[in-house]
Amino acid sequence: MSGQGNVRQADTGGIAATVEILKRGGLAALPTETVYGLAADAANAAAVAKLYAAKGRPQFNPLIAHVATREAAEGLGRFNSAAFALAEEFWPGPLTLVLNYHGGGKVCDLARAGLDTVAVRLPRHPVMRAVLEKFGGSLVAPSANLSCHVSATSAEHVAEDFGSSVDIILDGGPSQLGLESTIVDLTGKTPRLLREGALDKAEIESVLGMPFTKSQNDPARPSSPGQLSAHYAPGTPLHLNARSVEPDEALLAFGVPLPGAKVTLNLSESEDTAEAAVHLFSHLRALDKTGARSIAVMPIPETGLGAAINDRLRRAALGRH
Ligand code: TXA
Ligand code: MG
Repeated sequence: MSGQGNVRQADTGGIAATVEILKRGGLAALPTETVYGLAADAANAAAVAKLYAAKGRPQFNPLIAHVATREAAEGLGRFNSAAFALAEEFWPGPLTLVLNYHGGGKVCDLARAGLDTVAVRLPRHPVMRAVLEKFGGSLVAPSANLSCHVSATSAEHVAEDFGSSVDIILDGGPSQLGLESTIVDLTGKTPRLLREGALDKAEIESVLGMPFTKSQNDPARPSSPGQLSAHYAPGTPLHLNARSVEPDEALLAFGVPLPGAKVTLNLSESEDTAEAAVHLFSHLRALDKTGARSIAVMPIPETGLGAAINDRLRRAALGRH
């Protein structure tokens, strides 16, 4: 099917076209050794919003930042001794490390779903590596399937799910592993296995020199990633679906702002949910710093990315754990 529509062979020309699309903030489906990924510029919040919309994710699940080199990975997350040991042994390859984030704007807030951590992977597929090297920055890439579907392991699968809603599908043949990367969280006192995947956990345990502990029933640190009850909870209480504002409240507006707030930031004056997604986490952080008694949030429709935004706001309103 290569050569038809937006599917291109993963040759030099296809790779160059992909890099251009990604630099312009477009979406590209790319082969990796695990599954196909739907990639966007990790630093570009508008591109990341488009990616969430294309996938139809019911919530803003944080995304994995893919990098070409260990140095690039170290520029995103803080490496401890376990991280160095695992990267040395298994990168490039199907292992994702969750690290404390220190990358500034390199992976935007939206891609991290407002977390202070980042998931990083250095893939070994030659096409993905070539794109990353030429692109220069990091690329977020969830599995290239619609939210309710199974992961895509060929360009044909990607085309079935997305058709022309992505800018390019780079055909690098079937995925060698066909299963997503194994995810290990290294931000706590002991390493935690967040997702079983293409790298056998026994191999990881042997490098760590200890078995993974069975996860306790802690709602703030669940075993299944993406299910955190509060991805980003501001210290200031949230007042959702606000119809009016008190003078000591800050306002997170959508559309024409309610009058009378101490300070107002607008998610989208034109009521565009994709634009609102771009601003969501950064505006929450900024309003959290204003010293307001609470943050009033105007109603946001459930259409487009609105459902994901409302999901995040409801979790944030639960407060900190
Ligand atoms: O093999 C793979 O990992 C593929 C290829 C394309 O690289 N990607 C992939 O991405 O499976 P995705 O988005 O389908 O799954 C990423 C998982 C999600 O479950 C998400 O919750 C978790 O990684 N994740 C991302 N950032 C995280 C973080 N900071 N803390 C905990 N979990 C995180
Ligand atoms: Mg997935």
